[in-house]
Parts: sequence; structure tokens; C-alpha cells
Amino acid sequence: MTYKDVYAAWKADPEAFWMEAAQAIDWDQAPSKALTDKGDGLYEWFADGMVNTCWNAVDRHVEAGRGEQVAIIHDSPITQSQHKITYAELRDRVASLAGALAAKGVTKGDRVIIYMPMVPEALEAMLACGRIGAIHSVVFGGFAANELAVRINDCQPKAIIAASCGLEPGRVVHYKPLLDGAIELADHKPDFCVIFQREQEVAELTEGRDVDWHGFQAGVEPAPCVPVEGNHPSYILYTSGTTGAPKGVVRHTGGHLVALNWTMKNIYNVNPGETFWAASDVGWVVGHSYICYGPLIHGNTTIVFEGKPVGTPDAGTFWRVIEEHKVASFFTAPTAFRAVKRDDPKGELVGKYDLSHLRAIYLAGERADPDTIEWAQAVTGKPIYDHWWQTETGWTIAGMPAGIEALPVKIGSPAVPMPGYDVQILDDAGHPLPAGELGAIAVKLPLPPGTLPTLWNAEDRFRKSYLNTFPGYYETGDAGMIDEDGYLYIMARTDDVINVAGHRLSTGGMEEVLAGHPDVAECAVIGVTDQLKGQMPVGFLCLNTGCNRPHDEITSEVVKMVRDKIGPVAAFKLAVVVDRLPKTRSGKILRATMVKIADNEDFKMPATIDDPAILDEIREALQTIGYAKG
Ligand code: COA
Ligand code: AMP
Repeated sequence: MTYKDVYAAWKADPEAFWMEAAQAIDWDQAPSKALTDKGDGLYEWFADGMVNTCWNAVDRHVEAGRGEQVAIIHDSPITQSQHKITYAELRDRVASLAGALAAKGVTKGDRVIIYMPMVPEALEAMLACGRIGAIHSVVFGGFAANELAVRINDCQPKAIIAASCGLEPGRVVHYKPLLDGAIELADHKPDFCVIFQREQEVAELTEGRDVDWHGFQAGVEPAPCVPVEGNHPSYILYTSGTTGAPKGVVRHTGGHLVALNWTMKNIYNVNPGETFWAASDVGWVVGHSYICYGPLIHGNTTIVFEGKPVGTPDAGTFWRVIEEHKVASFFTAPTAFRAVKRDDPKGELVGKYDLSHLRAIYLAGERADPDTIEWAQAVTGKPIYDHWWQTETGWTIAGMPAGIEALPVKIGSPAVPMPGYDVQILDDAGHPLPAGELGAIAVKLPLPPGTLPTLWNAEDRFRKSYLNTFPGYYETGDAGMIDEDGYLYIMARTDDVINVAGHRLSTGGMEEVLAGHPDVAECAVIGVTDQLKGQMPVGFLCLNTGCNRPHDEITSEVVKMVRDKIGPVAAFKLAVVVDRLPKTRSGKILRATMVKIADNEDFKMPATIDDPAILDEIREALQTIGYAKG
């Protein structure tokens, strides 16, 4: 079958397509149908099936005779260690952890926050929640205590599972003080915390609240897998929107299992037993779908990589891991390749390693610039497949269906829509645009299985963020076009979300922090183009009248504030003081125009601008920090 046949088969009968895909999953009770239309733009998949995530990701492989196959490889150049866990061992470890959580009262539907670095225990914690029907919410380690507190308040966890520390090159990330700080800041308090002590830093436990990861498992009964409804949430993952309040993307169990399993062969082209590697972090959606769930559900070996593309120890790390663990399919972010390319432009380190098991490399998380794709293709000799998706969708909207058919690559395009996604380009009024025309990218409802059914405790926000602008469609927040051959091109975000080193960040959230500085009267944050990270945030500050403190004192204070409130991951390092911000006559800050000035791009003077002279002041301010130099 060609891609066209498969896509057409889905379009002709989506119900039959997904019911067939669902057969690859072990159900305790098979669903009677795939889609439930709940009305008013809300849909659910496999709602009346009964199923367990952990069973499908772990136990069933042991039952099928794969118990001795390695499930997880922890490859940690940062600690210079490696460790392998078989499916049988994983089952026992997860059942024991789940049993200990259950013994402390965690049960189906309870939320559990997981705040851990790249260690296999992070995956075990996720799977243990799934085993007993608890809903996990993993929080990325690069966020500050305040961000963790916001998530604690929103999902109200019964328990938090954390590690004592994370390890960044040259720096130990002290998780425990961050955790304590977050619990102190939060209005909701968890019943208890489980602390996984790493040998690099043993944290002091808080009496009466904290239990030790190993200690609390002693003598407990391993927990069996608890079947849950197909529409039971398996996790909540917070992502950036236009404000500082993150959106809790909900993932339902049944669709998640079916869709991810489908992608492993059809998109990533791997067979059970082969090694699949996504070099991301469990705190991001890529880590959920392709470090933990996808590969394990499909019976692959997955790699938990605790390192960086460069400096741990060098730009050959990726190639070393691919050789050593016989990686068949590799997924990373373009920013990682830009870092490798900077250190090893000729790809000399690639030649030292045997990449013969590797079939293709997949890029996502941000725009893949043609230079990076061409470089990666040239030095590895492997196909480079860009693919486009979001935290909300959990899997590819548009990509290369390599397991079905390797279509021609068009550099600059993440290829074609996957079955399940009817992607359309709409004008402002919501009318579909013809091929080649630029507009908002939207997906005709319903979205496929595995995508978000709603936001956690925020149905109104779900509608406002995704459904209201274009009735009958899901609004992706990206703009782009589709060419005559049906290939999609992603050009820009239509909102104030920026993408820094593949991390999705809200400029609105950063502005909220800057506005909290006592000397700041008004501010704006924009994302400017950066050679390495794709985009970098830059803050503009207007100070209160009469404030005559040195500007560099204030700019370093706001840089520290963003690091303390949002976290190092925001990579907020540049701020400038200006007298005024460019605005429309109705008072809207012209951020897009400011970005164009910073990036030396041509722009049309906005017709509604209040005072064009301000743009010269912005240019001059940007020049003081190395941008807008022409
Ligand atoms: N825990 C704590 N801090 C973290 C962290 C984590 N898990 N991940 C990143 N940080 C910190 C970094 O140490 C850095 O701190 P610093 O300001 O003290 O240097 C800051 O957050 C910014 O991190 P990042 O933007 O990721 O840059 P980096 O300096 O760590 O380098 C590159 C990363 C440039 C090599 C980049 O190419 C990369 O690999 N980025 C990650 C891509 C990725 O996996 N994206 C996920 C989507 S698929
Ligand atoms: P996240 O939810 O963190 O995965 O970020 C999703 C957003 O990242 C998308 O809405 C896009 O703006 C951007 N993005 C992800 N993948 C790509 C890609 N392949 N090409 C262009 N932009 C991408």
C-alpha cells in the first residue's frame, strides 16, 4: 500500500481504520466503537474499552516471551555510566513501585507529579502510575520552583515523586530545595513525596512528608495492572500558552496506546526488538511519547540519555550512542544538530562510528532549517525526516510515513499529513485557502486518537484556545501553507509562543515576570532569531518615571527574576531599557515588527502605528546587544 492508499483508506472510513489499529493493543474489554462524538466539538476515542497502559508497555511483552529483551538503556555520559533493564526486570520494578504508591493510598484517578532528571526511574514512575490508574504529570527539571508550584495547584497531586538531584554539565541541579520551595509556595499540599536518592547528592528528607524511593517499597505487595476506561486520563502535561498560566494537556488512555503504537512502524519504521532513541527529556511531550510510551508499547528498546549533544564529552556522543546500542531510528531536535555542527562542521567524528543499523533520523520540536538538514544528511548519509507536531497532539500531524512509503523529501517541509489529520490552511474568516497560499494551519475535527480531548479542569480555555477561532476545526497556532503535492510548510506561530532550543516558551509568561519588577512600568518580550537555539527571548523595559537607577543593574535583576521564577530553561539573558514601546493606536504592542527589526528583515510599516519614530529607538536599543546591525 502507498501512503496515498493508506491516507485514503483512513479518510473513507476513519472508524474502521482506528478499530483495526486498536487490534494491536491488549484490551481487558475491547471497545465497541472508536469515536464518541460528545457534541459541541468534543470527542473521545475508545471510550468504552477497558485497558491498562502499563500492561501494554511492559507486562504483555514479558508474557509474549520478550522478558529478557532490554527495555531501557540508561546511557549517561554525564555520570559516565550505563545500565540496562530488561522487560522482566522493568515489570518487577514498576509493580513494586506501584504497590508502594497504592499502599500509601494512591488510587485510580489520583494525580501524581513526577519531577525527575533523565534516569530510568522517571519512566518507572510514569509506568507505575499507569499501572494503578493514577494520572501523572511530569514537570521538566529546568523549571523553577514557581513553575512547579503552579502545576501543583492546578492538578492537585496526592503525591510527588522526585529525585534528589539532576546533573547538568558542570552543575548539580538541586531538586530537593526546588521541590520544598514549590510545596511551600503552593496552596495545595501533597500527602507525601517519594525521593529517589542519587549518589551524586543525597537530599535530607522532610520528616512526616517524604519517603525514600527504596525504603517505602520494602515489604509491599507488587500491584497488578488495573484496567481503566479508554477515556480515563493517563497523564496531564503542561505546555506554554500565551499567558504565564500553563495549559494542562490531557491524554486519554485508549487513544494514546493505539496511536503511539501505530506510529512506531508507520512513521519511525522500527520493528519490535529494535532500538529506538529519542534524545529529548521526559519532561517534554517527545519524552512522553518517544522515550517512554511509544517504544515500550511497541516492544522496542528505548534509550534514556543523560547528556548533551556536545560537551559530554564531545560532538561525537550521538554517533557513539547510535553505534553502541545499534539504534535503528533516531529522533532529535534541530538545535541539537546545530550544536553538533558548530563543534564538528565537517562531521569528522561521525566517521569514527558505525551507523549501519541506523535507517533514518527524525527532527521535530522547532523549524528544521535547510542548512542543518543538508549538513546532517551529508555527514551521516542517512535520510533526514522533519516532522511537525505539538504537545497537544502527542504524535505527528505531518511527517514522513517511512514505514509505509518513503516519499521524496522536500527540504523545508515536514512532508505530508498523517492519517487521522485533515489539515487545512484557512484565511482569517476560516475559509480554506488553495495550494500555495499562506494561512492559519487548522485540523478538521475530530482530531485522531492520542490527541488532547480537553485541558485539565479548563474546558472553557480549551475551547477558547483551540476551537472557537475556526468553528469545526482545531487551531494549531502555527501558520503555513500546503503545496500542489500536498506537502505542508510551517512558517511561524500565530501567537506569542516562542521556541528556544526546541523548548516551547511563552513570551507572555516572561512579560508577567518582568512586569513584577518594581522599577518596570511596561515591558515586552520577543523571540529573535538565534543561530544555535533557533530563537532567543529579548526583553524591553520601560522604567517608571523618576527611576534613575543604572540600567544594567535593572536588566541583570530581571534576568535573575526570570531564571528564578520560570527557570534556566527560559534562557532569558538579554534585556534592554527603552523610553517607549511601539504600539498601534489602539495600544497593542507591535512585537512582530520588533522581531523583524532585530532579525534585519524587511517589514511594512504597520498602518496603525502610533509613532513610527519609536522603531528607530528600538533598532538602536537592539544594536547595543548585538542585534539589528543590518
Ligand atoms: N534541568 C535543569 N536545567 C536544565 C535542564 C534540566 N533538565 N535542561 C536544560 N537546563 C538548563 C541548562 O543547563 C541551561 O542552563 P544555564 O543557563 O545555566 O546554562 C538552560 O537550562 C538552557 O538550556 P538549553 O536551552 O537546553 O541549552 P543548553 O545550554 O543546555 O544546551 C543545546 C542545549 C544548545 C546543546 C541544545 O542543542 C539542546 O540539545 N537542547 C535540547 C533540545 C531538546 O531536547 N529539545 C526538546 C524538544 S524535542
Ligand atoms: P511543543 O508543544 O513543545 O512540541 O511545540 C510545538 C510547536 O513547535 C509547534 O506548534 C510549532 O510551532 C513548533 N514545531 C514543532 N515541530 C516543528 C517542525 N517540524 N517544524 C516547524 N515547527 C515545529
